[in-house]
Amino acid sequence: MTDNLVVRDDAANLPRWSTPGSADLVYLDPPFSVGVRFRARPAAGATRARATGPSVYDDRWPSLAAYLDWLEARLAVARDSLAPHGTLWLHLDQRAVHEAKGIADRLFSAAGYEGFVGEVIWLPGNGTKAKRGPGVSHQTILIYARTAEFLWNGQDPALRAPYAATSQAMHFTRTDEGGRAFRERVVGGKSYRYYADQGRALGSVWADCPSMVANTPLRKETTGYPTQKPLKLLDRIVRAASAPGGLVIDPFHGSGTTLVAAAKLGRRFVGIDVGEEAHRTAHERLTREGVPFVAHLAPVAQAAKAVPS
Ligand SMILES: C[S@@+](CC[C@H](N)C(=O)[O-])C[C@H]1O[C@@H](n2cnc3c(N)ncnc32)[C@H](O)[C@@H]1O
Repeated sequence: MTDNLVVRDDAANLPRWSTPGSADLVYLDPPFSVGVRFRARPAAGATRARATGPSVYDDRWPSLAAYLDWLEARLAVARDSLAPHGTLWLHLDQRAVHEAKGIADRLFSAAGYEGFVGEVIWLPGNGTKAKRGPGVSHQTILIYARTAEFLWNGQDPALRAPYAATSQAMHFTRTDEGGRAFRERVVGGKSYRYYADQGRALGSVWADCPSMVANTPLRKETTGYPTQKPLKLLDRIVRAASAPGGLVIDPFHGSGTTLVAAAKLGRRFVGIDVGEEAHRTAHERLTREGVPFVAHLAPVAQAAKAVPS
């Protein structure tokens, strides 16, 4: 199977396009069961409400149960594509994340290891429209691993935040031979050294990757594809959970954000999306970025176009 694939197909057919047990990272950003048909918006950026372009994908379902059945089949093949050190990141919102977590817990524990690693609360910064109750201003990314030896690049600067100035002044009062400020803490009788310039682990609430709609400077990143995620978010996920040269899979690639992030970081990718507009948008975006890839249209593995680097 060729590396750097962009495939127009159903995510359920992922095993056609990648060898089981081969991926460092699978990131899934499926339809969330929103109950609407998403339309394209101008590439220069506009609010979702003003998205009046052609219908791009349909996120209406007969019932939540029907949606969850659909999702489970695609989650199962995504899990099987993971290498033993691989992780699966499932991006959803409040509409289905609770029920989907039950399904994912079951799918992963069936493999013998209780696979839930944790979750990221992503704040797109779009505000909320709710008139009653707190409203919803976050989305959730559930993280699962096949084994306890999963790959986690926790020291990558993208997963670190600077210590507060007050904390630096109060606690990082010692310097090593090289002049680096550090503090030492004793936990359970063992001493740990923390360097000020490494920053602190970012933790599970990510508020610094605003969506394109929320952030005017990001509008140049906007392809016009609805529900496009910001590159900074995918850059962080790819850095956290894959190695240079490793394989990153996105079975719902949409505008191709994950694929661009993976390529820029020297990872290989397989992107799948059933939608014609997604296929076209990702194709154009990768070409614009100078990323080499091979495009296929299911069901026959026809090479539509090969773009040289
Ligand atoms: C939330 S969007 C993904 C957005 C993407 N992460 C981005 O940054 O642009 C969900 C995508 O799932 C795709 N999709 C829906 N059903 C699918 C299926 N059965 N197989 C593969 N893709 C599907 C839609 O076409 C849509 O592009």
